[in-house]
Amino acid sequence: MFLVTISMVSKTSVILTFLFLALPFSSTACSKEDFQALVAFKETFSPNTFPKSWGASADCCLWGNITGCKDGRVTSLTFTSDVFNDVAALDLHGTLPPSLGDLSTLTSIDIYMQPNLYGLIPYNWSKLKNLETVAIYSTNVSGPVPSFLSQLTSLQELHLDYCNLSGALPPSLGDLANLNKVSFTHNKLTGTIPSTLFSRLDKGILHADLNLVENQLTGAIPKSFGRVPFRYISLQDNQLSGDASFLFGKSKPSLIQVTLARNRLSFDLTNVEYPVKNVQYIDLGNNEIYGSINEQIIQVVQEIHLDVRSNELCGKIPRGGKFTPKDANWFADNKCLCGEPLPACK
Ligand SMILES: *[C@@H]1O[C@H](CO)[C@@H](O)[C@H](O)[C@H]1NC(C)=O
Ligand SMILES: *[C@@H]1O[C@H](CO)[C@@H](O)[C@H](O)[C@H]1NC(C)=O
Ligand SMILES: *[C@@H]1O[C@H](CO)[C@@H](O)[C@H](O)[C@H]1NC(C)=O
Ligand SMILES: *[C@@H]1O[C@H](CO)[C@@H](O)[C@H](O)[C@H]1NC(C)=O
Repeated sequence: MFLVTISMVSKTSVILTFLFLALPFSSTACSKEDFQALVAFKETFSPNTFPKSWGASADCCLWGNITGCKDGRVTSLTFTSDVFNDVAALDLHGTLPPSLGDLSTLTSIDIYMQPNLYGLIPYNWSKLKNLETVAIYSTNVSGPVPSFLSQLTSLQELHLDYCNLSGALPPSLGDLANLNKVSFTHNKLTGTIPSTLFSRLDKGILHADLNLVENQLTGAIPKSFGRVPFRYISLQDNQLSGDASFLFGKSKPSLIQVTLARNRLSFDLTNVEYPVKNVQYIDLGNNEIYGSINEQIIQVVQEIHLDVRSNELCGKIPRGGKFTPKDANWFADNKCLCGEPLPACK
């Protein structure tokens, strides 16, 4: 029917008709909502910090640092100042803009190496129901970790490392059934680790990773963590006390790494058994752990790094199978550990 119509009109109007029909396809624009949110984002900062592509096209999917788009909707943003390559770096001076909360299809936010980015995580980000990954690394973003993060129901990974965050981790983070990778290393977090964390993890999720290295966390490691399928758990350089034996056990095949060094942990290691399959790295140094090292450790199927220096341990260091540690420092400064790689037992 369309062909019939154009055959009956003049050449000029055929061309015009084609131009008109082609127009919506040749100059695609991203969604108005996303366009406006990104313009507002840019206006929060000094405009000359942005790539020239910002605003140059109606299609905001073509702008620099917009690293993902689907059907004209922005899905990911990556802002990094390329300090390593010393190129003209994108240096964001100011606070995290609430306007990002209007990018409703966003699935990931990555912001790295922004020393001049400060202030709180804006409440408007709680609208980002599709957000799966947040990585804000090495910035001066501060304040408490907001409890409204529990409204980001798609969240799987939360990485806020080397920032200026303080206060306690909100127990509401445990409401997120898909959140299985959490890191807040090198902040100023205080209080206890919420026992709710990972407590509602979806049954289909087989691993959890937690990294809270270098904060000021106190109290006990939650007993509920004994039921979490950890792969990596790193809590070193805090002020944690009490028991950690429940993190170990033969029945934890996914466990690869446990680092608890430089805390105030105090428990009997004698009956603690080690997962044998995937474990590679255990660091319990500089705590107040007592008892002895269970002979069962020689069942590990690959060589492991076991560091228990500066504790209250005693007895003969087991040796056999893949467990043949050579570095005496890993066992140094205990009450009465003996045997290779330390001097022989008396
Ligand atoms: C973001 O933009 C800055 C400045 O143009 C550029 O140096 C950086 O490589 C961009 N990063 C990404 C991931 O696009
Ligand atoms: C934050 O969200 C509210 C409600 O959706 C909206 O009215 C407000 O304009 C937003 N603020 C900013 C700065 O985007
Ligand atoms: C935070 O800001 C201070 C000075 O204002 C700066 O020295 C420091 O490097 C910044 N921190 C980060 C992680 O960028
Ligand atoms: C870091 O956070 C503290 C509050 O804990 C605040 O007083 C300080 O201004 C923040 N530093 C920066 C550079 O934002």
